[in-house]
Amino acid sequence: MILPLAELHIHLEGSLEPETIFALASKNGIDLPYESVEELRAHYEFNNLQSFLDLFYANMAVLRTSEDFKEITTAYLNRAHASGVRHVELFFDPQAHIERGLSLSEVISGIRAGLEEAEQRWGVTHKLIACFWRHAPAASAMEILKMIVTENHAIDGIGLDSSELGFPPELFEEVFSYAREHGLHVVAHAGEEGPADYIRQALDVLKVERVDHGIRCMDDPELVARLVKEQMPLTVCPLSNVRLRAVETLADHPLPQMLEAGLKVSLHSDDPAYFGGYLDANISAVAEQFSLTVSDLATLARNSFEGSFLDEAARKSRL
Ligand code: HPA
Ligand code: ZN
Repeated sequence: MILPLAELHIHLEGSLEPETIFALASKNGIDLPYESVEELRAHYEFNNLQSFLDLFYANMAVLRTSEDFKEITTAYLNRAHASGVRHVELFFDPQAHIERGLSLSEVISGIRAGLEEAEQRWGVTHKLIACFWRHAPAASAMEILKMIVTENHAIDGIGLDSSELGFPPELFEEVFSYAREHGLHVVAHAGEEGPADYIRQALDVLKVERVDHGIRCMDDPELVARLVKEQMPLTVCPLSNVRLRAVETLADHPLPQMLEAGLKVSLHSDDPAYFGGYLDANISAVAEQFSLTVSDLATLARNSFEGSFLDEAARKSRL
């Protein structure tokens, strides 16, 4: 049975498969420090979030043209569509690409071309979310955000990602307030490796509409009660949590307790090329590990649409 799903936590650059990294490096004349796909893949063992991010940022340097962005967006959507995705809210890291000399327009037009083609071909709808790096100064995020707003780039919302520990959400208060004032949706990674208090800051200071990961809320019963009361969407990525050691094993993942508590959880793939699979693999892994019922799976699928930025009518027509 394939349930219709909304993918709300997917980093475009995290869908860059090793084979594509080699193909783009060859096309763009870039020397990779690996002899083969197998040698690259041998590095996909992570101890924590940072050890993954180091490789993730190095690999995305093969993206050099607008066409490259279109190609990887199409490849991701092709794969996602096959696993039941009917709506996607795609993250990308503008700072990474601007740093390499691409313009915001080149990046966004390439991604948008891929998104629009998939909508025409399969009816997969989309939103595009620019994620800012929390390891970089807030001033860098603000500079790009102002460019997005003043040059009217086709962006639906902003997010906050990268290294979490030591970079609390409150550092980005002004950035998020500016984004909200200009009608952009706001989400943030919080409580992946960082403490429950970062989730509270994301709610109170950044006023996010959705929390990415959020699993560490389970350390704080008062916060759980609030998230349940507010029915705050939490985009949980089980295979990512295992591969980045946010949990020891899949059996230790708090998903069953989160569902039991009444949290508005949905499942997502985060960086599928790095963490062992796309949305279908994430769902099968937890369904098997926790013997989820059809009713649990339907709740998770419904939550994915209810947590999305689709309007009510569009949401109903997708379910
Ligand atoms: N956490 C933070 N930043 C990221 C992630 C993640 O899981 N994936 C890509 N950027
Ligand atoms: Zn993420």
